[in-house]
Amino acid sequence: MKIRPARRLAGHLPGLPGDKSVSHRAALVAALARGRSVIENYSTSEDCAATLRCLAQLGARIERTANTVVVEGVGAGEGDDRAGDGAPLLHEPSSALDCGNSGTTMRLLAGVLAAHPFASTLTGDASLRTRPMRRIIAPLELMGARVRSVDGRAPLHIEGRRPLAAVRYELPVASAQVKSCVLLAGLCAQGRTTVVETEARTRDHTERVLRHFGVPLEIREDAASRREISVEGLRGSFAARDFKVPGDISSAAFLFAAAMLLPGSDLRVEGVGLNPTRTAYLERLRALGGLRLENVREECAETVGDVRVRGVAGRRGGKDDEGQAERASFVVRGAEVAELIDELPLLAVVGSQLACGAEIRGAGELRVKESDRISATVENLRAMGAEVTEYEDGLRVVGGARLRGARLDARGDHRIAMAFSVAALVAEGETEIIDAEECVGVSFPEFFKLLDALVER
Ligand code: S3P
Repeated sequence: MKIRPARRLAGHLPGLPGDKSVSHRAALVAALARGRSVIENYSTSEDCAATLRCLAQLGARIERTANTVVVEGVGAGEGDDRAGDGAPLLHEPSSALDCGNSGTTMRLLAGVLAAHPFASTLTGDASLRTRPMRRIIAPLELMGARVRSVDGRAPLHIEGRRPLAAVRYELPVASAQVKSCVLLAGLCAQGRTTVVETEARTRDHTERVLRHFGVPLEIREDAASRREISVEGLRGSFAARDFKVPGDISSAAFLFAAAMLLPGSDLRVEGVGLNPTRTAYLERLRALGGLRLENVREECAETVGDVRVRGVAGRRGGKDDEGQAERASFVVRGAEVAELIDELPLLAVVGSQLACGAEIRGAGELRVKESDRISATVENLRAMGAEVTEYEDGLRVVGGARLRGARLDARGDHRIAMAFSVAALVAEGETEIIDAEECVGVSFPEFFKLLDALVER
């Protein structure tokens, strides 16, 4: 993909493809509900297609027309044993379940499979097979499932058990995927399963989707922001529900960054998911001036709104009336890392264009994403001429960088490809990103087409 610099971004998107995290959960929970759920604005990503394929292999009936997915759920509770012989509700797959590039598919589905009394294998592409899975193996084994792996990596061979034993599990890593894995396993366990989030608040879509489907959850938060989420297992079935997925804020993030950094830009995107565990990035942009939320509303247990961004920040200078961009500070550490996890490479790019630069620490998790995102971000920023320091747990980039076009390697990672497409728009000269078009399909297949329609040169 070759990208030339842009003058500005302008336009109005009346909608956006559905959020990836929410879509996975809506499909999984609908498959465990009894009856037919219609999911609107389902994510167009390859990751979420992998979740649907795996669920179909397990016996859920799924029909898809454009972005609407109809799931005929099989049930998850005691009362759902239709044959009355204790037979599983989802059935044993005849071949391995391929999660592609999708960590969310693998980790959440593992929780579901652990609670079904049959053997199954979860595998994925070369990147997914390098990612750490002990974080889910440990709690699932505590609950009574057996999970074999090679050095804590996929393929995972799961021997499920019903009922699983309920647990109280303190998350050793701030991960929504691990939290969700345990909650989904807990849904089919005997008794009450509690997940304790101590370090940081992670995205809470699983909790919201479960509540939307009528599954009772108890959520307690103490003064120290320690959260305990409890689910009662095997309480009989829950019914199918229709669901509308909000636009994906982590996809929109790239468009917002480009608009913010190019003076004269004016972009309006409707129907963006504004779940408070996902909006730290928007807050960062809002502090630069030029970002407004409009028409904020609740839909299907999620907050949704329209986002308008004007170009006010960046090295080329915009019309920032109050000098907010000049005074901005882009330091991310501690509990905020989890809330910004998917946007950190992009924040480093944005920071490189602000006077303040950017510093990200405590973000070692970035090294075990779809690629080593610390190393990929450092390498590509340097290739474009920025001054960057790499740390084991993060990076620091000097602000006001005059980026120049370069030949970049996205390392097959969708978010790296999109973050550096934004960098390319504000750079001087042409940038080439290897394999960018293929890899953005993992989360946002429409990215380059949309960008092309919005960019003015
Ligand atoms: C996700 C959680 C995060 C995030 C990923 C999606 C989810 O991963 O990076 O893109 O949908 O639960 P971790 O749970 O590993 O932090």
